[in-house]
Amino acid sequence: MAIDRVDAYLEEKRGAFEEQLKELIRIPSVSAQPAHNADTRRAAEFVRDDLAAMGLRTELIETPGHPIVYAEGLNAPGKPTVLVYGHYDVQPPEPLEPWTSPPFEPTVRDGNLYARGATDDKGQMFTHLKAAEAWLKAGGGLPVNVKFLIEGEEEVGGANLEAYVAAQKEKLRCDIAVISDTSQFAPGMPAITYGLKGLAYFELRVQGANRDLHSGTYGGAVQNPINALSTILASMKGPDGRVAIDGFYDRVRPLEDWERAEFAKLPFSEDAFRDELKVAEVFGEAGYSTLERKWARPTFDINGVWGGYAGPGPKTVLPCKAAAKFSFRLVPDQDNHDVAGLVRAHIEKVCPPGVTWELEPMHGAPAVLVNNDTPGVRAACRAIEAGFGTPPVLIREGGSIPVVGLLKTQLGVDTLLLGWGQNDDNLHGPNEKFSLADFHRGIKASAHLLAELAAG
Ligand code: BES
Ligand code: MN
Ligand code: MN
Repeated sequence: MAIDRVDAYLEEKRGAFEEQLKELIRIPSVSAQPAHNADTRRAAEFVRDDLAAMGLRTELIETPGHPIVYAEGLNAPGKPTVLVYGHYDVQPPEPLEPWTSPPFEPTVRDGNLYARGATDDKGQMFTHLKAAEAWLKAGGGLPVNVKFLIEGEEEVGGANLEAYVAAQKEKLRCDIAVISDTSQFAPGMPAITYGLKGLAYFELRVQGANRDLHSGTYGGAVQNPINALSTILASMKGPDGRVAIDGFYDRVRPLEDWERAEFAKLPFSEDAFRDELKVAEVFGEAGYSTLERKWARPTFDINGVWGGYAGPGPKTVLPCKAAAKFSFRLVPDQDNHDVAGLVRAHIEKVCPPGVTWELEPMHGAPAVLVNNDTPGVRAACRAIEAGFGTPPVLIREGGSIPVVGLLKTQLGVDTLLLGWGQNDDNLHGPNEKFSLADFHRGIKASAHLLAELAAG
């Protein structure tokens, strides 16, 4: 049987696959840092070359930013078309000091591969390439039609992919999309994620006097922009953990009873969660469990604040500028553009006199909720059981993957979010890792998924 030859190929190539993944990870494709533009392109070329070597028709699509890799194998007439999305760009590795091994020197410890991009998303994305390779090299060809769309600007919220998808609807037409860029529920508990949060991210700049002033000579007589900024930021969230912006909850879809019941059934310990993070207690919106807060309730977080003097020793200065970055994680049916309007109205209302301010919306993404009672989800359950030895649990997650909303609105397709990572993989942080056992299980699950989707 073809699937047996595919499984045998995957067994035989385990070592080779790991070496290839390490090679890809060694390329520091940090999309946010212009100094790495050539490296980022090199990662795109690596992915393109790998897809070409397995016999797919490939393209490197230029954009005003980093290129998009596209590949297709459309030799399964009458069978469904599966679009696999992934991203080859990674977050900056800084700060470097906490890394045990250098971020772009993939190192194996305790069965985990440590490096920037190991789980987010090079390692996870690569599982689908290797599954396709196995079918092409050992299975007699792909059992379904496959399109790969691998971008290099996911971590910078780039608008270039959006423009490409909108312009190439016919070319990208598919029956279902597959993305591995999320996590399992826990070790040994693979998951299908049916909901992701959306994002509305802002920078707020507050300006006071025309120059920094002596805080004794001028203090108390003019507004201090850091004080004003603090007032604004503090007004955005109440002590009950709720966002205190008028209208913010108007379009929030409440958790359904069945969901609350399903979340409560998952083996999650609030105490273990608290202890692992070394905090005295968990904190969040009153009336909701930690999993509900993490997965299904909108949040507000300040991501950075600056202004005034932060060097060694004191400096009695009344600064003239202050700024902050902050963001909201959104849930269905909130709209990230609406939120910008609500935030603006709120700041107008609460901003103390004597300063001016500028609000810049940075990236945004819609929240997604996909129907989990579909033939595609059932096929994915069987495939995950084949790869991981146990069927998946259905979960939501708090992260955002902007393309999922795009695939739905532009192409009308639902996405299977099949995460092979773990919550403690340190994505975006130091010592990012990915379990090599899960890497191979993910490849096998992906290979079986193609067969399951072909069978219908
Ligand atoms: N892979 C993550 C998204 C993710 C993380 C989903 C954890 C589920 C669990 C993705 O690469 C990412 O980092 N997304 C950004 C959003 C983007 C617009 C910068 C995020 O969620 O912060
Ligand atoms: Mn990712
Ligand atoms: Mn990421």
